[in-house]
Amino acid sequence: MSELQPINFTRGIPAVESFPIDEIQEAAKTVLAQHGAAILQYGPAQGFAPLREWLAEWQGVETNQVITGNGSLELVEFICRHFIQAGDLVLTEAPSYDRAITLFRRHQAELIGIALEPDGPDIAALEDQLKKRVPKLFYLIPDFQNPAGATCSAAKRQRLIELAEQYNFMLLEDAPYRLLRYRGEAAPTLFSMAPHRVLHLSSFTKLIAPGVRAGFALGTAETLAKIAKVAEDTYISPGYFAHGVTYEWCRRGLLEPQIERLKALYAPRLDACLAALDHYMPEATATRPDGGFFISMSLPEGTQTTAVRKQAVKRNLNLADGLAFFPNAGGERFLRLPYCALTPVEIEEGVRRLAKTVQEVRA
Ligand SMILES: Cc1ncc(COP(=O)(O)O)c(C=O)c1O
Repeated sequence: MSELQPINFTRGIPAVESFPIDEIQEAAKTVLAQHGAAILQYGPAQGFAPLREWLAEWQGVETNQVITGNGSLELVEFICRHFIQAGDLVLTEAPSYDRAITLFRRHQAELIGIALEPDGPDIAALEDQLKKRVPKLFYLIPDFQNPAGATCSAAKRQRLIELAEQYNFMLLEDAPYRLLRYRGEAAPTLFSMAPHRVLHLSSFTKLIAPGVRAGFALGTAETLAKIAKVAEDTYISPGYFAHGVTYEWCRRGLLEPQIERLKALYAPRLDACLAALDHYMPEATATRPDGGFFISMSLPEGTQTTAVRKQAVKRNLNLADGLAFFPNAGGERFLRLPYCALTPVEIEEGVRRLAKTVQEVRA
């Protein structure tokens, strides 16, 4: 592979070759023929009813426990509007998803990060925080976390629920990567353990394509009705056309085979990334996830990600800073490697360039 070809370890985007374009085209034709007027008209803010019904059956909940939105991130925005007043405390994992952090900041929440360990949030640190001040919400990504790649253990999930009950706060569980498990067994969702304590978010962005802008939330009917009112006052109704296509694609039973295709495409990319790290950077302490989109690592003591990033550009390697993933201070040595949109050859070459760059910066 040419050293001139740029390699982007920057954004957590799906591989374009995973998009089921022909299936989407067929689904669009059918849904227009069968539900054309409904999906081209305004509708209830909760979302296109057939999609909500399909999601409810899939997730084993009542239809009024599901709302859809234009991607799951905008549902975070509506949840903030409903729950957060300026000065309210919100906890996130540290690191956490930078765009969610931005939304919490936009609502002037006070943000505190709870250190993320390889098996989920540091429970002792959480307990210390709860003794000082109880948050409105704790935002978590329990499965194949963005940006770290960590997955919360079953024991920590149990403890999180107990603490949320004891101290009376909500858990916001964001789970867009959960179904992309390449090996091992999944722990139960927080929502399945305590539906009244948890708002669960997920999305078709990583399963079909970001372009369908189809996210959904599971929660109690009362809370979701309030969030739907915020949605209605914002966009009247979500994108019924794309959600109709998503519905028809799901109705045809195409989700399961697509997930299998995604696993077959992405698992070798994860393995390529882990193998390249073992080979070129054996001293690195990287996360070793069983699924999802991300591996992360801490660069060696004294080596700043910003400096490595600047130097990496000279080798046509594009990296992202770590700072934005940390709600408070930290992240100076944090590096996220999103591997799904790169081929195994590109991944190996990217890690080789990274190792060389780190050596140069340290020299
Ligand atoms: C944890 C997490 N939540 C939400 C999103 C946004 O998803 P959507 O495209 O459904 O808005 C992402 C996208 O990268 C993500 O990583």
